[in-house]
Amino acid sequence: MQTIKQYVEQNKERMLNELFDLLRFPSVSADPAFKADVLKTADYVAEKLRQAGADNVEVCPTAGYPIVYGEKLIDPAKPTVLVYGHYDVQPADPLDLWKTPPFEPTVRDGKIYARGACDDKGQFYMHVKAFELMMQTDTLPCNIKFMIEGEEEVGSANLSIFVKANKERLAADVVLISDTSMISMEHPSLETGLRGLAYLEVEVTGPNRDLHSGVYGGAVANPATILAKMIASLHDDNNKVNIPGFYDDVLELTDTERAELNAAPYDEQEYKKDLDVVELWGEKGYSTFERTGTRPTLEVNGIWGGYIGEGAKTVLPSKASAKISMRLVPNQSSEKITQLFTEHFNKIAPPYVKVKVTPHHGGEPVVTPTDSVAYRAAQKAITESFGKAPIPTRGGGSIPIVALFEAELGIKTVLMGFGLDSDALHSPNEKYDIFNYYKGIETIPLFHKYFAELSGE
Ligand code: BES
Ligand code: MN
Ligand code: MN
Repeated sequence: MQTIKQYVEQNKERMLNELFDLLRFPSVSADPAFKADVLKTADYVAEKLRQAGADNVEVCPTAGYPIVYGEKLIDPAKPTVLVYGHYDVQPADPLDLWKTPPFEPTVRDGKIYARGACDDKGQFYMHVKAFELMMQTDTLPCNIKFMIEGEEEVGSANLSIFVKANKERLAADVVLISDTSMISMEHPSLETGLRGLAYLEVEVTGPNRDLHSGVYGGAVANPATILAKMIASLHDDNNKVNIPGFYDDVLELTDTERAELNAAPYDEQEYKKDLDVVELWGEKGYSTFERTGTRPTLEVNGIWGGYIGEGAKTVLPSKASAKISMRLVPNQSSEKITQLFTEHFNKIAPPYVKVKVTPHHGGEPVVTPTDSVAYRAAQKAITESFGKAPIPTRGGGSIPIVALFEAELGIKTVLMGFGLDSDALHSPNEKYDIFNYYKGIETIPLFHKYFAELSGE
């Protein structure tokens, strides 16, 4: 029987080239200009699943982008793994900051540079190749189902409808996702939680039209200045979120849990150096790991108003806007936080302006079990392929659908990500290490093997 490593070694080039083909599709779900490309990406994924050996492969239409489904059911007595991933990517802007074009994957220094290289094409495609490997070497030890969606980066609204309508088809013992990060290749880790999200847009309107900033400036409030002040007031002197009730439902960690999370390797000098910042900033009384993994936050994702073109134009803008997100932790609810924010933001608006708050998408926080058969299988798989036991960490990002799998399907998730925080997700020059790609393809079959073994005990 061929070993995992041998199979990967013999098929290395092809496995990489197929990922490159996948990365060449500009599958930006947020921008309708890419609609045809997103649809072609779904077809490509379906074709690759079929070639790898999946049955009943279907590009399932939704009101938005389709969900690619495929399965291999070998024995109803064996456990079933549902693999989830997403073939859509974030917009590549700002384009001029990319060293090589975002949709022409380029290798530099052993890393693949492309939008989606890590989030999530490089990561979900490892599962397709690991599945091919298990089929070709006749080692698939359990049933496997794939659900690869095309709207993760825009909130997965249609996936939740699909999940509710396909409960039987999606029935499984665990959801397996590679769409998160590890601490480093030297310090493999498993994320055991994800933050939730409440995302809103705010618009502040002053005068009914743009004004000459000399003729009117000084006599009429400038909405950009007012918005800046309102936003600045959303954090207090300890960098806590200054919205009444914001922390009411936050589950505080025990001292033991905090100590465990803080035991993970962390080099503050390196962290600062990588980002080119002199000092870090955050909620007083918490470490960096706690701030990003276990504490709720509020961020401005974009802010605009007035003239932002070339040169100078003297104008007092009529409107100013911002996109604001809040990351949530157990037991906060995105609906409640959205409501608290909306009430508060309206309340702090001075009489010079009108305020409009529009909610975008949301998602609930999750904590995944660390005592389950599936988690233990992931621990064993990583320990074997990395030669080191994985460190449990809490992820700062959000995959809103994870809470939904639990609520609708009653299935818990294992987050076995192989990315790195430094892979520049959502940023120019996103990358994924070729080493991580192959390492993932080698580790995934071990997960299935141990999951089947431990489930049988
Ligand atoms: N894969 C990320 C989430 C992630 C990244 C989790 C790194 C943990 C570590 C996912 O594609 C993502 O970007 N999610 C969005 C939310 C979504 C609703 C747009 C996020 O976290 O901002
Ligand atoms: Mn992702
Ligand atoms: Mn993402």
